[in-house]
Amino acid sequence: MKFYIETVGCQLNVLDSELAAAALISAGWERLATRKDADLILFNTCSVREHAEEKIYSALGRLKHWKTQKPGSIIAVMGCMAQKDKNVVFQRAPYVDIVIGPGKLDQLVELVNRAVATGEPQLAVSLDRFERRDLPRETRASFRQFDPIRLPETRPRVFQAMVRIMFGCDKFCSYCVVPSARGPEQCRSPRAILEEARTLAEQGCLEITLLGQTVNSYRYVENGKTTRLADLLEMIDQVPGIRRVRFVSSYPTDMSDDLLAAVRDLPSSTPYLHVPAQHGDSGVLQRMRRRYTVEEYKELVDRIYETIPGAAITSDFIVGFCGETEEEFQKTVDLVRYARFKNSFIFKYSERPGNEAAKLYEDDVPEEVKKRRNNELLAVQNEISGEENRRFLGQTVEILVEGPSKREARSVAQEETLYAECETLDAPEDAPRGDGLTSVDALVATGRSNDAQLTGRTACDRIVVFNGPTSLTGTFQRVRVVETSPFTLFGELVE
Ligand code: SAH
Ligand code: SF4
Ligand code: F3S
Repeated sequence: MKFYIETVGCQLNVLDSELAAAALISAGWERLATRKDADLILFNTCSVREHAEEKIYSALGRLKHWKTQKPGSIIAVMGCMAQKDKNVVFQRAPYVDIVIGPGKLDQLVELVNRAVATGEPQLAVSLDRFERRDLPRETRASFRQFDPIRLPETRPRVFQAMVRIMFGCDKFCSYCVVPSARGPEQCRSPRAILEEARTLAEQGCLEITLLGQTVNSYRYVENGKTTRLADLLEMIDQVPGIRRVRFVSSYPTDMSDDLLAAVRDLPSSTPYLHVPAQHGDSGVLQRMRRRYTVEEYKELVDRIYETIPGAAITSDFIVGFCGETEEEFQKTVDLVRYARFKNSFIFKYSERPGNEAAKLYEDDVPEEVKKRRNNELLAVQNEISGEENRRFLGQTVEILVEGPSKREARSVAQEETLYAECETLDAPEDAPRGDGLTSVDALVATGRSNDAQLTGRTACDRIVVFNGPTSLTGTFQRVRVVETSPFTLFGELVE
């Protein structure tokens, strides 16, 4: 039996897909790279914006035909939309076999077996969570932790891995679905995390990304001893083989001095900090229920640059939030100029029914205005990214080589990995992507088959494109930067 997984959303989903694949492979299933010959198709979904959900529903719509042609085949919907929509998934797409929330992934193989055996729809989701701290124990327990098997072959690159250090979120920003979709904040024990880091190192992993929705809020108390993220970084720094460690996403008010000092001092910790600001106006931040003012955020930026020279800070922003005036929007533009982010992920506000913002405020910024503000902010950010990258011209940087570049170098767009953009959902069934000719193919076609266009990343998470033998993939190399663009450094190998 063969399966195919399609993933959208943040890195938590990318990791969940890897773990789900490992569980299925361990149970005897084979993974396919396209959905064509699959017996089981899994969609790992995201609910953060309406657009993400609509894409999934229309992809499911296209599968109706596939399903009737292939009796006995199974469609599973996992991820945050499964948790949020539950039975609605079956109503909108009655041919779906399995709906499984992120807090129930430990039951995936069992549900697949049951669906195969009975042909009956299977639903496994966690209990509903409302905004309150005194969560009933059953609700907490219904979001189960799942971080079991790590199989190197389920990762795009053996030498890079993500490790979840916490589940869920307790921040309840007014616009966000994550606290209800992923449940309450639950931290994994330092022992489990360290064990996983060691396993990964034994598998040849060089770089670890620690994951959590508010990763720097990590706190684990055991026998009267409290472990924070800074302590974890120190512990992982001692694991032989792990050369780089980074963590995403950080919440601004939990960025303590000792954490910044750890990032500065530990050889394996990298000076890359994803600390989403979301907005540049304190009034809007308050409506968003973020727990800081823009002044406090700016102080944090100062503190980061003072403590960690050469730090690369990145952010997320929402434009067009309820009631956002032109003046408030310009404050976001000001913040981008002030903080000089390496890059920002910019999103148009999308109302999520049922959450606090939807109840309290009207989604009153017209779509064209959201679009215009999005483009304006993006243009300012690109200008700054370009300027910051230009400072690398002539410098030699150390990179971890990730492999052949997916796109033609001069047009390399943002090959960012923070939020998985789904490449195939929009495309007609099994259509080739792009022109079907990768840059490596292009080089082979022009006779330069020994060298390929490769990409790598600096410690501060900048993408570097250069020519070299593909055998360098998974090694650290020194590259001299000869050209830059807002998204990419172009370099030459230093012998
Ligand atoms: N935990 C992270 C972000 C998780 S969601 C943090 O707090 O920073 C990823 C991003 O999606 C958010 O940073 C936010 O910018 C965006 N986002 C979340 N809800 C949204 C909504 N309703 N509409 C538009 N963008 C949203
Ligand atoms: Fe959502 Fe806020 Fe939690 Fe981030 S911190 S996941 S934006 S509720
Ligand atoms: Fe989306 Fe869930 Fe991540 S809603 S952004 S996949 S936590």
